[in-house]
Amino acid sequence: MSGEDEILEIDIAGAEAFLPPDELLRLAPAIEAIAADLHAGRGPGSDFLGWLNWPVEITAAQFQDLQDSARRARSDSAVYVVIGIGGSYLGARAVLDALGAGRGGQEDGPEMLFAGTNLCSAATTRLLERVGMREVRVCVISKSGTTLEPALAFRLFRSLLTERYGEREAASRITAITDARRGALHRMAESEGFETFVIPDDVGGRFSVLTPVGLLPLAVAGVDIRELLRGAAAMREECLNPGLKANPAHLYAATRFALYEQDFTTEILSTYHSYLVTLQEWWKQLFGESEGKAGKGIFPASTLFTTDLHSLGQYIQDGRRQLQETFLCVRRSVPALVVPDISADDGLDYLAGRSLDEINWLAYEGTRKAHRAGGVPCVSIEIPRLTAFNVGALIYFFEKAVAIGGRLLGVNPFDQPGVEAYKKEMFRLLGKP
Ligand code: PA5
Repeated sequence: MSGEDEILEIDIAGAEAFLPPDELLRLAPAIEAIAADLHAGRGPGSDFLGWLNWPVEITAAQFQDLQDSARRARSDSAVYVVIGIGGSYLGARAVLDALGAGRGGQEDGPEMLFAGTNLCSAATTRLLERVGMREVRVCVISKSGTTLEPALAFRLFRSLLTERYGEREAASRITAITDARRGALHRMAESEGFETFVIPDDVGGRFSVLTPVGLLPLAVAGVDIRELLRGAAAMREECLNPGLKANPAHLYAATRFALYEQDFTTEILSTYHSYLVTLQEWWKQLFGESEGKAGKGIFPASTLFTTDLHSLGQYIQDGRRQLQETFLCVRRSVPALVVPDISADDGLDYLAGRSLDEINWLAYEGTRKAHRAGGVPCVSIEIPRLTAFNVGALIYFFEKAVAIGGRLLGVNPFDQPGVEAYKKEMFRLLGKP
């Protein structure tokens, strides 16, 4: 991509020296075959491929319903509590943080709070207190409708609504995003008359951010969801290109898999932008749950630089060499801060007048050089700036890459059998009938 339409660039120069010659070319036919299977609806997990075309298949009526619900929430609420865990909240929160939205305030719309992401009573108490006496709506999101953390949080916030507004108005202030036909939440929404949106049957939780799961909270927070979908659609187009060179998802999937085969079994997603930390969390869930199964998979980790250069930096530079690193970079941030030219005896006069962005960028380039020299293969993913369009494209890029990556590993990228084990033990201890 180039010029105005440039969305994302991927640079694998820092990884090539760690791979046998022509390794990526060797993988290209397998990747093409996987991509063809995905688009033809074949292969393991083929019932969960709805996300592939969703950005271009969402209907005008579905889009309008989301906007209408968002408008109502913006007009009568100061706080909007999203209740969900894993794929049911991470995507929306990642986009909000990346774009600096959802903090409350006149133009931003309601303050967005996220509950049901753990079982910590102190954290939930703080959220209940944060709502205080402000006008509030609750959006509970669960595909299965049976996940413990959001179900318990929903009980607590529903009680708050009922005490505040009485049963009828409380119900009118609840939106449930869940399965079209099944599950406890679906049944409750039907009997109580909550507003509902559907999580498509063929989209799994961690691939659902561009469906109502992410789009509704984002629209409530004033994010331009049309642009988000337009970016995803543009990346979808880009990711239909054959081969590796013109298809960033193919190139990324090939490189990280080839490195994994050389025993670089942990991938660190590193960024220099603190507003991308939640996006890193979303990425970890997407990649960890999609690839980590059957005794295989690249372990996804993340670091925020330059902060973590003062902690984990030592290990990355010098520790056990199983690490591959992917830098997620934004070329320009707004507004640009410039180092003031003041007289201070801090030895930093040579930086006066230079922007913090430039310094941050050079910190990235310096780290990349040092890590590569220390034996860490490095890939860079660069986006020009953080807009809804670019973030939509980035989301789709990662989703496509992990679908291919999982199948390269020989696993089904769309299931998560491993998450049941702890639940069985926990429910036994809780005495679940
Ligand atoms: O990716 C997934 O499927 C999971 O992370 C789920 O999103 C998460 O477990 C929440 O499940 P549910 O939406 O059914 O409550």
